[in-house]
Amino acid sequence: MSPPGPAKIPQHVAIIMDGNGRWAQQRGLPRLEGHRRGVETVRPVVDAAREIGIRYITLYAFSVENWKRPTDEVSGLMGLLDYFLKRELNNLIKEKVRLHTIGRIEALPANVQKELARVKEATQHFTDWNLVLALNYGARTEVADAARAYAAAVQAGTEPLADASWDNFRRYLYSAQLPDPDLLIRTSGEQRVSNFMLLQCAYAEMVFTPVLWPDFGRADLQAAVDEYGRRERRYGLTTEQIKSGAS
Ligand code: IPE
Ligand code: IPE
Ligand code: MG
Repeated sequence: MSPPGPAKIPQHVAIIMDGNGRWAQQRGLPRLEGHRRGVETVRPVVDAAREIGIRYITLYAFSVENWKRPTDEVSGLMGLLDYFLKRELNNLIKEKVRLHTIGRIEALPANVQKELARVKEATQHFTDWNLVLALNYGARTEVADAARAYAAAVQAGTEPLADASWDNFRRYLYSAQLPDPDLLIRTSGEQRVSNFMLLQCAYAEMVFTPVLWPDFGRADLQAAVDEYGRRERRYGLTTEQIKSGAS
């Protein structure tokens, strides 16, 4: 057996932050209280990610399907998002974290769009650390949007159809500027991807934890990263090929 090498740190970790509602329900509190507590989890987790050396952290905060929830829950979530952006701006600048978004941002309330634009602009020159918020995000919607943009470019003559390839097509996804997630974590015990980054996670390692998002902390992130470090990513090759350094 070979001695343990240096710990493998994922470059990009994506998290499906789930379980806010159940956290509240278990305490006899309204669902929105669970979302409030969920917001408080974000800063420590982003800090911990940076300390571990994770350069990109993507948080699934609101899906295209989440609009179907009761209107007071949806408006409460939008209010929390606005509050989070206002509160975190100075901290993101202090810690040199760049904010990105993926999703149909143009359909979010105007005040949220304004805050997002403000925080993105104020952090756009940072390169080392990146926080990506998936907002009004759905993987199928993303593919439909990308296909439309790709078709428009072909029609305009700027995208030669003969060059159709994944590397070309991926430039039309919301995540064009981001590396693919190496590790996908879902909290709350559910073991599904719920329309999240389906193409980008083609080779992501998945870790499911029963911890509800408001209870998720530094140690839980570290445990998922440790689990990632024990996995062998083969990308279709054999273990022998991986060991001999083939790619
Ligand atoms: C995740 O928590 C947050 C969002 C989807 C916005 P949930 O609200 O889905 O929590 P559960 O799944 O009902 O416990
Ligand atoms: C996924 O969680 C979306 C977010 C975490 C924002 P959901 O709670 O909406 O997913 P389902 O409905 O359990 O699949
Ligand atoms: Mg849920």
